[in-house]
Amino acid sequence: MIIEPRTRGFICTTAHPEGCEQGVLNQIEYIKSKGKIDSPKKVLVIGASTGFGIASRITSAFGSDASTIGVFFEKPPSEGRTASSGWYNTAAFEKAAHKAGLYAKSINGDAFSNEIKEQTIALIKKDLGQIDLVVYSLASPVRTHPVTGVKYKSSLKPIGDVYTNKTVDFHTGEVKEISIDPSVEGDIENTVAVMGGEDWEMWIDALKKENLLSDDFKTVAYSYIGPKLTEPVYRNGTIGRAKDHLEATAFKITDKLKDISGKAYISVNKALVTQSSSAIPVIPLYMSLLYRVMKDNNVHEGCIEQIQRLYTERLFLDEVPTDNEGRIRIDDLEMRADIQEKVAELWEKVTTENLMSIGDLQGYRNEFFHLFGFNYDEIDYTKETEEVVDIAGLQ
Ligand code: NAI
Ligand code: NA
Repeated sequence: MIIEPRTRGFICTTAHPEGCEQGVLNQIEYIKSKGKIDSPKKVLVIGASTGFGIASRITSAFGSDASTIGVFFEKPPSEGRTASSGWYNTAAFEKAAHKAGLYAKSINGDAFSNEIKEQTIALIKKDLGQIDLVVYSLASPVRTHPVTGVKYKSSLKPIGDVYTNKTVDFHTGEVKEISIDPSVEGDIENTVAVMGGEDWEMWIDALKKENLLSDDFKTVAYSYIGPKLTEPVYRNGTIGRAKDHLEATAFKITDKLKDISGKAYISVNKALVTQSSSAIPVIPLYMSLLYRVMKDNNVHEGCIEQIQRLYTERLFLDEVPTDNEGRIRIDDLEMRADIQEKVAELWEKVTTENLMSIGDLQGYRNEFFHLFGFNYDEIDYTKETEEVVDIAGLQ
């Protein structure tokens, strides 16, 4: 098949296997180039196939020779359709991991369900015995509650007032105003149910009950704060309430892990183009400007650079550096005063006409297409692709 990007709004319905593999190999190369990391050897990554999750899996495996189990929800290829990008990413990751002699197995299904937790538990018992790190990197618009069966949908809405600001259609480059209606009854609860900490806690409870967590066990989940200008739709909006809940859950989990001296952390990460973040209004325009400013200042990072820094300069130090609220901050460069001042200045004057010159729309687009394996210089997109129907370690 010759595969081309087919986009619908902020999603791309096709993915390119060799391109996705290229993205994974680039990340592996980066980690290897930075040298060995002293971090846990038996790692479970939940949300392991794209974005920060695959970056975490790669960092553990290729930085620290860790055995990894990855859980995700991806589509295999089917008649006339490509697989989803996380499927190809994982196939490429496992191929490289196995070639390097590393243990890597995967479970594809709904991580919110009891069934997938049980499958994961069985696999850990069979192969690894215990786990010493769980990375929780799920991002989903929906969750079916495993006890009640209620299906929750998350939303990205401001709370209280209509929020009006600039946004960009990153395909056309058109900058325009968008008004987002405030949340209605149930939106906050629904969003907290999907993206809050309940499922993270359920995973840790389930693993601990089976005695699958080692002494000094650690778990980390990813959060975001961001600048003033996105506050109404992000941190002070419905998704922000879910992040508040996730962050509070870290303390709750740490309490439950006292007997094994375990600890749960939140890492506040930088804004990056992923399938999840491109769905949030206003944020893509902010990111186009942020990328420009961070690149101009030589402090731009992608998911892999972020996680490499999380592992080597934060999470596995004897004294883990945190902010006043106990959170690890790897959004420090994004939030630097000079960077934010410059972005705010550009924000005031950005228009359709000048975005290409004052912002990094091209960089944004490029990363968006990279998510699906497109726009890699190394790949000849006029060539037929190999069908990737298997993930070697898929259970
Ligand atoms: P992503 O969309 O790239 O990754 C989501 C992962 O979750 C994928 O592996 C997907 O297969 C998996 N997944 C989704 N639903 C699932 C389900 N029901 N069962 C099993 N797996 C499922 O997202 P991204 O951006 O890497 O987000 C990960 C975390 O990082 C989220 O908590 C997000 O809020 C946070 N974060 C993201 C930032 C960004 O700018 N992208 C910034 C800071 C934090
Ligand atoms: Na992820």
